[in-house]
Amino acid sequence: MTLRNYLEKAKKEKWAIGQFNFSALEQLRGILGAAQKLRSPVILGTSGGELGYLGLEEVIALFEIAKAKYRVNAFLNLDHGKNLDLIKRAVDYGFSAVHFDGSGLPLEKNIKYAKKVIECAYKKGVLVEGELEDIKKDNLTSLNKAEKFIKETKIDSLAIAIGNRHGFYKNVKLNFNRLKEIKEKTKVFLVLHGGSGIPEHQIKKAIKLGIVKININTELRIVWKKSLAAAFRTRESKPYKILAVVQNEVQKKVEEKIKLFGSRNKI
Ligand code: 13P
Repeated sequence: MTLRNYLEKAKKEKWAIGQFNFSALEQLRGILGAAQKLRSPVILGTSGGELGYLGLEEVIALFEIAKAKYRVNAFLNLDHGKNLDLIKRAVDYGFSAVHFDGSGLPLEKNIKYAKKVIECAYKKGVLVEGELEDIKKDNLTSLNKAEKFIKETKIDSLAIAIGNRHGFYKNVKLNFNRLKEIKEKTKVFLVLHGGSGIPEHQIKKAIKLGIVKININTELRIVWKKSLAAAFRTRESKPYKILAVVQNEVQKKVEEKIKLFGSRNKI
């Protein structure tokens, strides 16, 4: 099954595939461990910052080896790619998907660059995700812009703004009316960024209304940091013991999300 196959299946059966970001080995293994245990497809995300630290070559090598070892259906996505050269390199190196974040550009430029990304990605069967409005509080995806963007670019997926935002926030209120309107007017795969901290009942409703991919980063970073900090308060100093605990905690958080998204046993 390709990532496209899974997204189509998720759309038909009303569940979502999680994108979990990583920049450390404990996160990569924790995510794949959860996917293996719950027989769930997963997307591994790396943003420009995460890639800048780990290195593109290292990400590909670590991912391929770990994926084969865990025997899971996992896919790599470049998260919030803003630089065309980096996007091209990710495509050449074998990423399954790239997210072109043109949200900071005027619509016409966003369309122009998205087309360039699509041209280079489609040759290799790489999925492309687009973005219109910056995903932050009070920003809502405009229906007119979304329709024009999708029609002109023929993009596969769209990251939408419906009250979601990046980081861990309480009191998130997703605008389900806008989600319904977008769903009615488009056929693309709809993506919810800023998944950390969104209450469970809102996540479930968003999936019911058509979200097929949900990105989680901050919550995994918090678990990673807190469990590492807790280990530093003990007398333990062996990295392989400390980091095994961290990996286990990350895995538990990913398992929680996989169950919530309904992607369990979908391999
Ligand atoms: P959070 O950090 O809020 O989970 O968002 C992650 C994300 O959307 C990555 O693109």
